[in-house]
Amino acid sequence: MAAMRRIAVMTSGGDAPGMNAAVRAVVRAGLEQGVEVYGIRQAYAGLVAGDFERLTSREVSGILQRGGTVLQTARNEEFKTPAGQKKALRSLNEHSIDGVIVIGGDGSLRGAIKLHELGVPVVGVPASIDNDIWGTDMSIGVDTALNTILDAIDRLRDTATSHNRCFIVEVMGRSCGYLALMGAILGGAEIVIIPEYEVSKEEVARSLEDAYIRGKNHAIAVIAEGASYSARDLESYLQSQGVGFEVRLTILGHTQRGGSPSAFDRLLATRMGVAAVHSLLNGETGVMIGRQGREQVAVSLYDVTTKMREIGEEYMKMAYTLSR
Ligand code: ADP
Ligand code: F6P
Repeated sequence: MAAMRRIAVMTSGGDAPGMNAAVRAVVRAGLEQGVEVYGIRQAYAGLVAGDFERLTSREVSGILQRGGTVLQTARNEEFKTPAGQKKALRSLNEHSIDGVIVIGGDGSLRGAIKLHELGVPVVGVPASIDNDIWGTDMSIGVDTALNTILDAIDRLRDTATSHNRCFIVEVMGRSCGYLALMGAILGGAEIVIIPEYEVSKEEVARSLEDAYIRGKNHAIAVIAEGASYSARDLESYLQSQGVGFEVRLTILGHTQRGGSPSAFDRLLATRMGVAAVHSLLNGETGVMIGRQGREQVAVSLYDVTTKMREIGEEYMKMAYTLSR
């Protein structure tokens, strides 16, 4: 294979704090290796439409600490169709792009497989606050989102304690309970409800009532947005049952996606961005850079998009033990 001269990078799916740090790392590591780097604006939408911009070292100055993504992101249906994919290939040819780095969540990585199958060298970088991507201990953005959740829980506990209240806190994660479970353990919640482990509304009510009777002057119930019942249904149920505490609901929503990336996310994004460039220029394709232990490893995108990342049962037990 001829040496690569020009590569492109995109950020796709839901934005995640640290995406900019990863773009910066890709650009600067690429330039250092002697390739030109192009940014694709608005993910697969920009790929289909040919919305590319040359990125020099100066273009990525001052973005390391910024949340969101300067390349912007989008969800795009057209790229899922053969017609959209042809347009994407045409855009890549028009700009003489030899390889692509896709920074995004599991959906975005499914798009990356498509590119790989169409013969475009591609390397993925996992970025999603949900931490639902197989093959990596952590995805870019998870640590920052978790810190935002903990900050919110700490604040809610202050007011909960002052009023003898229970707060239901709904956190994001799609169908994955990672953020909720870690938020509950590290935020000291009384109970956690995640899609992976069913806890009935009756059980939630019992455990809150129990906490009230044991003399607690506050309670926090963390519920994942993907749980089998909604936070609002839980709120109505608990209010109708009367668990001792007054009940209030806070939905953290998109506040969890914004903000300056933590030190951990900056480091993770930087290391993964650099590793993605090296991997692409070494001729690897159809892989994602995963963080496993202390190492950056290239894992197959087929495995990434077909295998389920498991939530350890021991964490569920820990959440229960520590809530007493
Ligand atoms: P995330 O990457 O955060 O999981 P999405 O699931 O919304 O976000 O996926 C982001 C984008 O990736 C989609 O809007 C689409 O453009 C592209 N994509 C997702 N799945 C596929 C697929 N099977 N084939 C081609 N492109 C896909
Ligand atoms: O995948 C990241 C995520 O924030 C999920 O946690 C959430 O379910 C979803 O994206 C929200 O998507 P949108 O920003 O399109 O409402």
